[in-house]
Amino acid sequence: MTTRDVPAVPRLRGAVRVPGDKSGSHRALMLSALARGTSQIDGLSHGEDVAATARIMAQLGASVDAHDGIVVVEGPRRGLAATSEELQCANSGTTMRLLAGIVAGIPGEHRLVGDASLSRRPMDRVARPLRLMGAQVNGRGEAVTAPLTVLGTRPLRAISYDVPIASAQVKSAILFAGLVGDGATSVREDPRTRSTTEDMMRECGISLTSVETATGREVVLAPGRPKARHWRVPGDPSQAAFFAVLGAIHHDAVIEIEPIDTAPERVGFVGVLERMGADITWHDGSLHVASSSLDATEILAAEIPSVDEVPALTVAAAGATGVSAFRGVGELRVKESDRFAGSMALAAALGCETWSEGEDFFVRGLGAAAAFDSFALDVELDHRMVMAAAIAASAGRGGVIGGADSVSSSYPAFFDDLASLQ
Ligand code: S3P
Repeated sequence: MTTRDVPAVPRLRGAVRVPGDKSGSHRALMLSALARGTSQIDGLSHGEDVAATARIMAQLGASVDAHDGIVVVEGPRRGLAATSEELQCANSGTTMRLLAGIVAGIPGEHRLVGDASLSRRPMDRVARPLRLMGAQVNGRGEAVTAPLTVLGTRPLRAISYDVPIASAQVKSAILFAGLVGDGATSVREDPRTRSTTEDMMRECGISLTSVETATGREVVLAPGRPKARHWRVPGDPSQAAFFAVLGAIHHDAVIEIEPIDTAPERVGFVGVLERMGADITWHDGSLHVASSSLDATEILAAEIPSVDEVPALTVAAAGATGVSAFRGVGELRVKESDRFAGSMALAAALGCETWSEGEDFFVRGLGAAAAFDSFALDVELDHRMVMAAAIAASAGRGGVIGGADSVSSSYPAFFDDLASLQ
């Protein structure tokens, strides 16, 4: 475990280009591996999570190579095939859950394993629908934790499924399995989660309809094989959130974040920061953010589905005036770490009063990042907690972060990019 001393930064200026979207990167690799022929991917995330997906696609028979920053994937003519090797998903929940959907439709036995963090995360949420579709999915205990054994079959039974939690990963696992269904698969979700899978499946020729209901969406997918194509992965909004919060709470900052994906389910954090009074504006897909005086707000899980931006927004709440409420964010407990406890622990380490009630937690802000305490915190195996702690240290009075190398699962160059703004 690497401990990193992150100093306070007196002034922040410049532009940062965040990595390619992690969600889009996984899907580009998976859809390319499932397609026949040669696909190219521009802007793939360099993180270890996405590298795990690339390795696994190769184990299942695709060829994956990088040339001049472009990743070239060749999907086998007869499609992906089972291997007796373990499929190592490392720290990546997206890899394991979407992969479960893919291998459910590949005849044979598949063994999916992960690191200590991933092996604690619930896989019952994908096991349940995939079993209904005819695959056998076995893991440990009631939560069906990894290692997972999936016995795939083809065709799978097409189902009509209401996803019981807000999860793009569950929706996507079912849609990937539905590609080899014996009819149309339909998935309903409420609230709407990121539509990356639907959008990208449509882009590679899959016939899919998506109808929005008042607060949810129904997706109907016809079976089919993706077509090879050239993917361009946009910048990752969830990574941009760290620099947006940093720029807003730092006392002397003007930061530009180069273009990111602007899908509505991904950029809810911008609306939250605007509501808090942040000086943040869009310019052709880029974000400009400057030092601001923030007020507390109430943040609903539905405005930031997947709740990936809560650790960053907790730091904004810690620097705001008044009590911020994070409502309905219990899903944080089953992310790479317990981010519900972790976000509260970070705010407390900065000197804030925090408390929780059921699925909600509260932070009494200190009014300015200059009032943060310097801190020491361990955030093992959770990249987003590392980055949240790092922006708090940079804007406040410094901090010591244990487990800082976990940042490489999604953003290996994070600390270099942070340093480039100084
Ligand atoms: C992701 C979905 C989210 C998110 C994760 C990436 C995806 O999880 O936390 O970082 O790529 O589909 P949910 O399944 O909770 O939506």
